Amino acid sequence: MSLGVGSEPTARLLGRGDYRWTLHLAAPVQFRASPVAGACSANERPGRGGPSVSRILLLYSSFYGHTLKIGEFIGAEAATRGDEVVVRPLARGAADAAAYDAIVVGSSIRHGKHHAEVTDFVRANAELLGRLPSAFFSVSLIARKPTRQTPQTNQYVREFVAKSPWQPRLIGIFGGVLDYQRYGVFDRYAIRLIMTLTKGPTDLHTHVEFTDWDKVRAFAAQVSALAARQGAT
Ligand SMILES: Cc1cc2nc3c(=O)[nH]c(=O)nc-3n(C[C@H](O)[C@H](O)[C@H](O)COP(=O)(O)O)c2cc1C
Repeated sequence: MSLGVGSEPTARLLGRGDYRWTLHLAAPVQFRASPVAGACSANERPGRGGPSVSRILLLYSSFYGHTLKIGEFIGAEAATRGDEVVVRPLARGAADAAAYDAIVVGSSIRHGKHHAEVTDFVRANAELLGRLPSAFFSVSLIARKPTRQTPQTNQYVREFVAKSPWQPRLIGIFGGVLDYQRYGVFDRYAIRLIMTLTKGPTDLHTHVEFTDWDKVRAFAAQVSALAARQGAT
């Protein structure tokens, strides 16, 4: 399988003092099964690939790119089942969302909250999200713990769902990345404090990915099934 990413710059630097703040705004990428068995093509124009093809729009909000990586993994997985998946930064908008069979929204956690653009989007598009099959996934460090991987036991997701006018049909909760050296001084020590309190790695050279990719794969399969049901109606 070959995967591609957009040709536009994948990151934009936000000048904030000496901090290396990086907002990931990759170009939209489309994954779809190619006529060559198992292969995927990227960055093609959206279009109906055939009567049995489900079209999925995956919108993500990511600061250091890990939620994007998970979104692209879901896109590639769904493409192996014949789905067409457009993976797009939420900041680029979703005016065409009603044309899809399913919508997936993904966000990382930053300082105890999902990104504001996600909550704003959900508020503004609650009706559409309620009408279409839809899924949500949340990426955080606390989700590295097996005891924080359900919508009931993950405080961020529990709060999100409680306050949201949208009740996603499917929710994925995935561990994120800890990379102290990538953060500015304030964030580095703030996250280290959280790690101390939650018994995580505190060595400032730690760079670890807590994502369980088998879990993401299983979530992608559930997204495909959700979109297929919509396509069948
Ligand atoms: C500035 C900052 C604040 C964070 N705050 C939290 C937090 O409050 N709780 C948590 O569980 N994870 C927190 N994280 C961890 C991120 O959710 C995790 O690194 C995730 O992989 C980031 O995904 P992204 O690259 O898509 O933004 C924080 C990370 C950063 C850099």
